[in-house]
Amino acid sequence: MTESNSSSGVFVAGTGSYVPEKVLTNDELATLVDTSDEWIVTRTGIKERRIARDDEFTSHMASAAARKALEQSGTSAEEIDLIIVATITPDTPTPATACHVQQQLGATKAVAFDISAACSGFLYAMKIAKRMIAAGAFENALIIGAEKLSAVTNWSDRTTCVLFGDGAGAAVLKKSGEGDGDIVATEMGSDGTLTHLLNIPGGGTACPINSENVDKNLQTLSMLGKEVFKHAVTRMKQASEAVIERAGWSPEDIACVIPHQANLRIIDAIADRLAVPNEKVFVNLHKYGNTSAAAVAIALDEAHREGKFKRGDKIVLVVFGAGLTWAAAAIEW
Ligand code: ACO
Repeated sequence: MTESNSSSGVFVAGTGSYVPEKVLTNDELATLVDTSDEWIVTRTGIKERRIARDDEFTSHMASAAARKALEQSGTSAEEIDLIIVATITPDTPTPATACHVQQQLGATKAVAFDISAACSGFLYAMKIAKRMIAAGAFENALIIGAEKLSAVTNWSDRTTCVLFGDGAGAAVLKKSGEGDGDIVATEMGSDGTLTHLLNIPGGGTACPINSENVDKNLQTLSMLGKEVFKHAVTRMKQASEAVIERAGWSPEDIACVIPHQANLRIIDAIADRLAVPNEKVFVNLHKYGNTSAAAVAIALDEAHREGKFKRGDKIVLVVFGAGLTWAAAAIEW
């Protein structure tokens, strides 16, 4: 579903991110499973990832990222109207991680809820928040992508455990005023016929937590990587093209493309198909691996703080994940 390019009057007022201190390198992983730094770097581009402490939950990382976004946007927690956390690794099945974040921040007047769209969640949250602000329901929103994937990783499966990491990214959205930017166009989609390609089979009502299921590692992520790879390239290309077209831009206009950080080969294929030079495509997956909903949010914050784009520049965000789901946004910063 693509949204029209009519001015939404909603802009990104600030960004923030947080990653845990502990670094897990490829060489360290090679002591756990039959893999090598060379294989992981060549096939994925990932060199290391961050792992949260046992007592560090998704909400703690989300709140740490949120505080930075609030500070940058000049907004206090008490002023926030809406908090959406995108995550597949909530602190608790209920209440929502967003409610834990609300409590930690002291965002007393906010409405808080989670969404589950895997790696696409942050841009799903962006579209939901944008529409609610544009419709006049709220003045502002705090959107967060946060994951503790280390808690749902099968550390004996070399085909997945080398890919994932922990972290969080956040953004404050506000109604645009004079001279502010605009979230110009958004696109999102899902294909529920492909749920089997990437999932956590256990832990829900279909396959409850019990010792038999835990013995089979059904509470951890499993993925048919090759299949997911093909769909990722196709859908991310389509979604990016859709928002670029709806925004009325051409590839030369774009200052920065910020894609989901899953695999460098996927990112290179998208840059190639969009005819955007590699130097305009932001990559940080060598440091963090795939942090699912957090990945594009962390990348947005780092690209912003590193000065990869400035107020008025045109940027494109594009993501892909389990569901399958995908989304893109064309933003005039
Ligand atoms: N170390 C060494 N060898 C390995 C490893 C490893 N860590 N993992 C797999 N291999 C082996 C396989 O067993 C296979 O061996 P075989 O040929 O003897 O059978 C060989 O390497 C090739 O495996 P493939 O799976 O074909 O490798 P591929 O090049 O497809 O790379 C990867 C795998 C990195 C997972 C890739 O398919 C990928 O990135 N897929 C997309 C992931 C993605 O985009 N996810 C997005 C969403 S994630 C989310 O929503 C949470």
